Amino acid sequence: MTEVFKGSFTQQEPIPEAGIEAAVRVMRHGRLHRYNTVGEEVAEAAMLEQEFAALVGAQYCLAVASGGYAMATALRAVGVKPGDRVLSNAFTLAPVPGAIASLGAVPVFVGVTEDLTIDLDDLDAKGDTADVLLLSHMRGHICDMDRLMQICDRHGIRVVEDCAHTMGAAWNGVPSGRHGVVGCYSCQTYKHVNAGEGGLLVTDDPDIAARAVMLSGSYMLYERHLAAPDAEVFAELRYTTPNISGRMDNLRAAILRPQLANLDTQCARWNDRYKVLEDGVRGTPGLKIVERAAVERIVGSSFQFLLLDWKADDILAVLKRCAARGVELKWFGAPEPTAFTSKYDSWRYAAAEAMPATDRVLAGIVDMRVPLTFTLDDCALIARIIRSEVSAVFQAA
Ligand SMILES: Cc1ncc(COP(=O)(O)O)c(C=O)c1O
Repeated sequence: MTEVFKGSFTQQEPIPEAGIEAAVRVMRHGRLHRYNTVGEEVAEAAMLEQEFAALVGAQYCLAVASGGYAMATALRAVGVKPGDRVLSNAFTLAPVPGAIASLGAVPVFVGVTEDLTIDLDDLDAKGDTADVLLLSHMRGHICDMDRLMQICDRHGIRVVEDCAHTMGAAWNGVPSGRHGVVGCYSCQTYKHVNAGEGGLLVTDDPDIAARAVMLSGSYMLYERHLAAPDAEVFAELRYTTPNISGRMDNLRAAILRPQLANLDTQCARWNDRYKVLEDGVRGTPGLKIVERAAVERIVGSSFQFLLLDWKADDILAVLKRCAARGVELKWFGAPEPTAFTSKYDSWRYAAAEAMPATDRVLAGIVDMRVPLTFTLDDCALIARIIRSEVSAVFQAA
């Protein structure tokens, strides 16, 4: 009998009851705007910031409207100006170069290795052409952060980390987002905490934090933040920093706080599923596992494997055969952007030089979401389906 998977790759878990109750409380009192507080009341958004700062060990945290907004704000706050070149990963999703382009700055793409991390030799080679790197830990793959920071320090590059896929992850014991000068996170539905939309930004730099708070649209109410610098840091900045509103509201913050408290447990559950998938497809002929570094604490909320140097038609055949058995895979090698997936040469607002080694890797990346609504048995079944379909196409090729 041919096994078929019946689950949904886009169905996340419900919001925890504590989050629902907190959200209802906010709706009952009606003070959804983060600066709409009475008396000594502390806004949910301010508490979320304080809790997230503590979670990752940062001095300062700002909650904003989206991960994309967090990245654009971080770039503005570190001083990126229109026309500046900003290095970033060739393997990432559209909001990353989009954040750079939103400032009128110019994305400069750095290649990807077979580990699905940024090509550090390419970064070194391009290091003197820009002052800022927007480093995307795409699909949760973290590069050798110690070497990356050495390279960036040598070139005088400041690093802004896109941790949309690495909230809860770490490199060598350092939480993802804490190597660079700013870490940016997303709270969009498919990420590790779910507010529908939302973003968080962390830094230890008081000037950057104050600028980010002003940029996000704090009016002159910055003293209501619990994880922002002291008022004197704002003394001059408040006159020179434009308001580009992108605040988080109390409703989303209320939904997020109980999820943050449970993040470690959720990460462990993702990793249990990832392990079953990895073990299940390991050894499939023609399929390359993306091996993870021992010092990387991963969050396996998505799973990738490589069909390196396969013909496009054969990869398409795998995708089609898996889809027919209920397994939804995405491919980064498609010539045209589809759904959530696009690649650097389809972001035509940013001229990109040819990167054949990167094109080879992208052409082989197959990707799937791992929502926590999947059981371990589901993951074992998905792995069996992938194994049998990849093997069938590989043997016929
Ligand atoms: C790699 C990556 N970075 C950043 C973002 C931006 O997050 P948001 O959707 O919250 O703007 C996303 C979201 O899809 C993403 O996948």
